[in-house]
Amino acid sequence: MINKIAVFTSGGDSPGMNACIRAVVLTAKHFNIDVLGYIKGYEGLIDNVYQKLLPENLKDSVHRGGTILKSARSQRFMEEKFRLQAAENLKKEDVQGIIAIGGDGTFKGALAFEAQCSLPVIGCAGTIDNDLVGTDFTIGYDTAINTVIEAIDKIRDTAQSHDRIFVVEVMGRDAGLIALRSAIGSGADALLIPELKSDMKELASKIEKWKKEGGSRIIIVSEGDESGGAFKVAEFIKTAWPLADVKVSVLGHIQRGGNPTCMERVNAGITGYHAVKALLDGKKSEMVGIVNKTVTYTPFEKAVKHHTKIKPELELLLSVLSA
Ligand code: F6P
Repeated sequence: MINKIAVFTSGGDSPGMNACIRAVVLTAKHFNIDVLGYIKGYEGLIDNVYQKLLPENLKDSVHRGGTILKSARSQRFMEEKFRLQAAENLKKEDVQGIIAIGGDGTFKGALAFEAQCSLPVIGCAGTIDNDLVGTDFTIGYDTAINTVIEAIDKIRDTAQSHDRIFVVEVMGRDAGLIALRSAIGSGADALLIPELKSDMKELASKIEKWKKEGGSRIIIVSEGDESGGAFKVAEFIKTAWPLADVKVSVLGHIQRGGNPTCMERVNAGITGYHAVKALLDGKKSEMVGIVNKTVTYTPFEKAVKHHTKIKPELELLLSVLSA
């Protein structure tokens, strides 16, 4: 019997987290379960800072970016004594299950917590990076790539007017999935991501071609690429092509904010609903995901172990569309 659960958001915030919290609270209400929303992720668990969540608290949140529960990357939770304190707090409040919304750091934290706390934890994949195994789209990814292509559409207008080369840096920590889809969606001329090792060589030969053709170009570089980021890539281009008019644009945290797309909100709703159902079904230490439009459950160990692989068909598509 579960009649009280905890929910929190942890790690980098992502658009759609509020829609997920809302789905958790409404689903819990449907099954007569109380929900405590812990503030600032694991920090709230350690300090016992929470708010009882009722559907009315989430009334105007489905369309908002960020997270009403706030978020943090807790250093303290890496220490056993603070995890023990968090476990004590949850016991005192008579919590019987936990829903953690976040990325790989969040689920690594949940795995470490197993040694101190026997409560079941279910994860909802919330990160703009889309780097978790076990879901096609993490909550936040679709909105982030739409933000990126909107920005690049605007950059393209000025690039084209001045025949400029723009190097646009996007987020993704050590994964290039934001960059990859944005490159296809924005019609970029070149892409540099950690998963593709030959990309600098390819860029060098593209530069030779561009020198003859002239015109504007858009190059997308993922922040974790081994080239060292957009400024280094711009230097590389200037060395190979001194006459080029090269500009850099680092998109930064605008990729983390904004109203979630419709697809994001729907996926977040499905995920939050199934996270509550998973606790009721006795599941633990698993992440809810959506693969090929089907709800799936992936053990935390597997979800965080490897990055999502670049699909060969997307790589091929990119090479044809950015030739
Ligand atoms: O994980 C999401 C993300 O936005 C990454 O893409 C980026 O590398 C990182 O978080 C930035 O984190 P912070 O906002 O804590 O600097």
